[in-house]
Amino acid sequence: MAEANKHYKDLEPSYLFANIDKKVAEYMEKNPDADIIKLGIGDVTLPLPKACTDAMHEAVEEMAHIESFRGYPPYYGYDFLREAILKNDYLERGIELKKDEIFVSDGAKSDCGNILDIFDESNSVAVCDPVYPVYVDTNIMAGRKDNILLMECTEENGFFPQIPDRHIDIIYLCFPNNPTGEAASFEQLKKWVDYANRENSVILFDSAYEHFMREDKPRSIYEVEGAKTCAIEMRSFSKTAGFTGTRCGYTVVPEALTIGGTALNPMWARRQSTKFNGVSYITQRGAAAIYTPEGKKQVDEHINYYHENAEMIYNGLKSAGFKVFGAVNSPYVWLRVPEGYTSWEFFDVLLNKCRIVSTPGSGFGKAGEGFLRLTAFNTHEKTAQAIERIKKLF
Ligand code: MLT
Repeated sequence: MAEANKHYKDLEPSYLFANIDKKVAEYMEKNPDADIIKLGIGDVTLPLPKACTDAMHEAVEEMAHIESFRGYPPYYGYDFLREAILKNDYLERGIELKKDEIFVSDGAKSDCGNILDIFDESNSVAVCDPVYPVYVDTNIMAGRKDNILLMECTEENGFFPQIPDRHIDIIYLCFPNNPTGEAASFEQLKKWVDYANRENSVILFDSAYEHFMREDKPRSIYEVEGAKTCAIEMRSFSKTAGFTGTRCGYTVVPEALTIGGTALNPMWARRQSTKFNGVSYITQRGAAAIYTPEGKKQVDEHINYYHENAEMIYNGLKSAGFKVFGAVNSPYVWLRVPEGYTSWEFFDVLLNKCRIVSTPGSGFGKAGEGFLRLTAFNTHEKTAQAIERIKKLF
């Protein structure tokens, strides 16, 4: 008899955002005319930058002619995109990497889960609490349920995890952080890099929100000395350039990164060429356009637009008496729910009384209880309306 993966029984019945969708769908069924404002999942609103769609139109045209048609894309991404990433995201920022250390993919979420293929099941894992649920769920699926250390990130420790007093094999760090919106300093990350090098551990650094960084803090883990021998970095064009539906991102696995004498770069290359057939030519042309002068300008406009929303939420709620965090280097605002409510109870209040979809902090882990996350990814108009609705109620 075939056996199903027994570890799935250890998971929560449904993925956090699927759970929220279900609650919203139930509400909509009862209130079909409700003018809901979505500040829940971090999905973007603005269309793709014009530089990207222009490049994609051209790529479609190329695909229509025998002399310029392309079949399977290269497993690790077209050179034009890998080179643009290398130059703009790393070399120009003083980070020495090589093209062959960059692997283009369909996004950071898939890579966060897929990367576990190159690690042994016996590895211990540390994640922040609260945390992007994908890190935890994919490790549970891989049989590590009892081998996950939750590192509390609270107001008291500035939402930054303490270095553990024992050995951990794989450490997930995400800065600017999802869900708290807080960024990490050079000194803070250096402590983790030193720990990982000392312990021969691997840091999985999720840098999906780096474009929102406003302060002088690391956007890449490789800005921290020593990171190339201990860290893998994942990035995404989803929040940077509106690619949530288009799907494109990349993962960096430095050649210098080895564990127990085994280099991880060739392992990831082997994994990707076996299980992944690359990102479409049209999508990669769109992604490469982000790095053109017009693309950069348009991306900056998008990021500024969302930053204005984040400020609007942050300042609006603060003036209404809420305790708020994040926003400065992030599209997320993390707020303390009023006394007497749990995260889910306050989620229900916002949905039922203000017609606002949010994300309850406890959905990101136990230490998220008592908090709630709002995203800056809606329009200015709807964001302003949402804040007015909350202010009226409190
Ligand atoms: C979030 O809302 O946390 C993100 O949009 C989820 C994701 O990027 O998969």
